[in-house]
Amino acid sequence: MHVSVLLEPSLEYLAIQPDGIYVDATFGAGGHSLAILERLRGGRLIALDADPNARARAAAIEHPSFTFVHANFSELRRVLDACGVESVDGVLFDLGVSSMQLDEATRGFSFRERAPLDMRMNPNEGQSAYDVLATASERELADIFFQYGEERAARRIAHVIVERRAQGALPKTTTEFAQLVAGVVHRPGKRERTHPATRVFQALRIAVNDELGVLREGLHAAVDRLRGAGRVVAISFHSLEDRIVKHTFRDDERLQVLTKKPVSPAEDEMADNPRARSAKLRAAQRKAS
Ligand SMILES: C[S@@+](CC[C@H](N)C(=O)[O-])C[C@H]1O[C@@H](n2cnc3c(N)ncnc32)[C@H](O)[C@@H]1O
Repeated sequence: MHVSVLLEPSLEYLAIQPDGIYVDATFGAGGHSLAILERLRGGRLIALDADPNARARAAAIEHPSFTFVHANFSELRRVLDACGVESVDGVLFDLGVSSMQLDEATRGFSFRERAPLDMRMNPNEGQSAYDVLATASERELADIFFQYGEERAARRIAHVIVERRAQGALPKTTTEFAQLVAGVVHRPGKRERTHPATRVFQALRIAVNDELGVLREGLHAAVDRLRGAGRVVAISFHSLEDRIVKHTFRDDERLQVLTKKPVSPAEDEMADNPRARSAKLRAAQRKAS
């Protein structure tokens, strides 16, 4: 089951007006959406998710103020136009993958179970993680692992992948790939807090879904469409995302930053929900013009 992260602060920073128009850019299991809907009287909530599986969960919400659109949030402008909405009072981004996606072995997001190396938010579009490993150059792979995973052994891992590829022995599954990575980065005698493949998996997922590019596009689209003192709230789960949120809010003259420091979950939320541990929330408000 997916437990929504930083639910109360998200609602607080969105400062929901009952008759306002809001966007949940990352519907997931709908926890944030439901909480927003509870606060609306006459307003509207438009929820997006790139994952086609979210559609069935959204269909269970029967609420006159609710619209779900299966779309990437980089297409926010198009989605709002299609809904006949010019401007909104708030947009929420709760980034990354949901517990359902991690638990669904066939999606290939996790190496806890053997699954095809896919990792696409929308499995009907674009290149899978396997396709990336099969086609990217050694240099491109090393850049992905280093820039998106801050993996010190990026070059060595990329080299071994390209060697395996030449032998026709590229790993096809999550567990085989995790083993390959562990074999390269293994540091004898060192006790690691996380599995050696964790950073490389994160890096590959970011590349497969162009997560940093779509985040920039989505945030800009959201700010463009804010009205009045509308707000954008973003919850990120790693430093690369957080940096983009922080800089986008800080550098946009139309915005006033509401969170000098990012909001982190309280100790008890972190203890109850391990996924919350790395969460950081930032919020900004449109300046009155
Ligand atoms: C952390 S979950 C959101 C959980 C949700 N807030 C809740 O309370 O249940 C992130 C969701 O965002 C979706 N997602 C990730 N990147 C996306 C993108 N670029 N566009 C649309 N949805 C995206 C994922 O498919 C996933 O369902």
